[in-house]
Amino acid sequence: VDRYAVFGHPIAHSKSPLIHTLFAQQCAEAMQYQAILAPLDGFAESWQAFVAEGGRGGNVTVPFKEQAFALAEQLTERAAQAGAVNTLYFDQNGQLCGDNTDGAGLVQDLLRLEAPLKDQQVLLLGAGGASRGVIGPLLQAGAASITIANRTAAKAQLLAEHFGSKVSGCALTEIPPAAYSLVINATSSGLSGERPAIAAEALKGCTFAYDMLYGKEPTAFLRWCAQQGVPRQADGLGMLVGQAAEAFRIWRGKTPAVEPVIAALKKALV
Ligand code: ATR
Repeated sequence: VDRYAVFGHPIAHSKSPLIHTLFAQQCAEAMQYQAILAPLDGFAESWQAFVAEGGRGGNVTVPFKEQAFALAEQLTERAAQAGAVNTLYFDQNGQLCGDNTDGAGLVQDLLRLEAPLKDQQVLLLGAGGASRGVIGPLLQAGAASITIANRTAAKAQLLAEHFGSKVSGCALTEIPPAAYSLVINATSSGLSGERPAIAAEALKGCTFAYDMLYGKEPTAFLRWCAQQGVPRQADGLGMLVGQAAEAFRIWRGKTPAVEPVIAALKKALV
């Protein structure tokens, strides 16, 4: 049985073991997937011990994505652009490769939901790691422009500079008036039950609100968007399953169906 694992700190609540176990069943792949709590100062050692025991690949979550980026001997283009690695695997020559499937997971979910994306103006809230990882994939999926709005404006502007003329940065409070069809919350404000403090005017013409966070109840941001009349909302559960599906494809060469797994996870949310 081929072994895989997700590394994080904390890790007890990770949904990845359940997701990959369901994928493996669905695709009849003989594999085992576990959660590993790596010490805060010992990610590399933890990974190497896992490989020494036969580990074939891994996922990496908070706070180790930058350390995994540093550990990988080779990076995919999207991992290099994201500055973070969430998927580790070995290539044919035994080289440790780092990829980042978060952006692909988001795009896959937006396509599944038939959210407006191609040729659309996208408003992206937040300029941290979660935001950085999805900008390249959103552009590749055909977004006409991406406006990054962040509490700290300078961080949004700095991030935007990496991506050329279609991407710009501003403060949450100074979002340029435009028809943003799609608004994506990539801030961590929801973790404390808050929402990014943008003006309702920014949602004029918006038909879809997406929050990268998820939970049993709609996030504060999605509730507010609904109140403002945005007709469709989705949380990040589909993105979570989407990034996992892309990692599974890298490791096993098979693309699992995400719908039944999203449904199973929704049921299991507490
Ligand atoms: P992540 O990897 O999840 O993106 P991060 O790098 O710590 O985590 O970034 C958190 C993001 O959420 C940042 O954009 C942060 O804004 P600042 O750069 O101004 O700190 C944003 N954020 C966190 N709490 C917020 C809040 N209450 N309102 C608005 N933005 C918030």
